[in-house]
Amino acid sequence: MSTAAITEVLREQARAFARHAYAPFSKTPVAAVFLCEDGTIIPGVRVESASFSLSLPALLNAYTTAVSAGYRSKLAGAALSRPIEDRDAHYLSSLPDLSIAPAANDAWLSRSPLPDPAEVLDPRLPLGPSADVSTNDGILAARDAAQAAYVPSSDFRVGAVIETENGSFFPGANVEHPDWARILCAERNAAGTARTYGEPSARRVFLTCLEDAGGTPCGACRQVLAELAPDAALWMDRHSEPPEKSAPDELLPGFFEGTQLLRDGVVSSTEEKPS
Ligand code: THU
Repeated sequence: MSTAAITEVLREQARAFARHAYAPFSKTPVAAVFLCEDGTIIPGVRVESASFSLSLPALLNAYTTAVSAGYRSKLAGAALSRPIEDRDAHYLSSLPDLSIAPAANDAWLSRSPLPDPAEVLDPRLPLGPSADVSTNDGILAARDAAQAAYVPSSDFRVGAVIETENGSFFPGANVEHPDWARILCAERNAAGTARTYGEPSARRVFLTCLEDAGGTPCGACRQVLAELAPDAALWMDRHSEPPEKSAPDELLPGFFEGTQLLRDGVVSSTEEKPS
């Protein structure tokens, strides 16, 4: 397949996934896809938070899904559902072990021979039906998800699994970055992946910190889980003790909902304009 044809496939996939974006504040849905060396396509959508700085850009969401699926150093290209802006280019250039360059206004590709795009990744774990998945099974799945963590800064592996109302199980691991402000926690990685695949409502969240039997979600994850998974039960791994149950609204009472930000015209769209 020619580079132009490959770019077209990636662009079309990104545009198709953009409808799963969660952009109630900017009202500008965006999606990105990565092309893996084996042809697998990995999407990610923009997921906004009422606390704007906690929003997941589409590229970050796609990249962290790719890392969780074991593709961290096996990526060959990326495309967006809209033109690539300076901040996207900066992010792509900043990713460790990724060597891709501009190929079109909405795509960056590797200079090595490119694979033909193949299937879109299905990140769902082979678990279920839900009624057969015990709390312990969920915790074991979270421990497994933590194995994919990329943690050169902390050596602190975290794994999360989100079970959706559809009965799917989405894994997430923490993905670190030389710029700590761009590190994504395991919980938000899993939540972002579930959104990308069009499964917004969570039933259970399983969380493990492999190196800390007392681990709980950080403040940023509490905010995002309160917004995106308000009705979920949260199960935290306590290692040799039984898992501890909590809930997003219990962990962050009075969280910022940003209701006033949803009024038409209150927030102008900034996503499509270069800052
Ligand atoms: N981390 C998580 O993945 N989830 C949390 O709730 C706490 C923190 C990760 C982020 C970073 O990679 C490392 O743990 C240290 O903060």
